[in-house]
Amino acid sequence: MNRVYVCSCFGVTEKQVKEHAEAGACTPRQIASASKAGTDCGSCVRHIQALLGRGNCPRRELLNQGMPALEAETGDLSEAA
Ligand code: FES
Repeated sequence: MNRVYVCSCFGVTEKQVKEHAEAGACTPRQIASASKAGTDCGSCVRHIQALLGRGNCPRRELLNQGMPALEAETGDLSEAA
């Protein structure tokens, strides 16, 4: 399989970042709280930002409305983890 690591500190793959994005994590900070990616050396944060910037966040509009997307998706993240 094509396994591309975004965060080598925590072994988080591009696929995982995209899955978290689909589950409602729209910012590197939310990816960090969902997967820990970016919370150690921080060198992957720009890569995560770039992944998020490619339209992998269907719920960005919820954030723009002031709704916390992660809370709106209670339960999904624990299933995905
Ligand atoms: S590579 Fe992600 S925190 Fe170090």
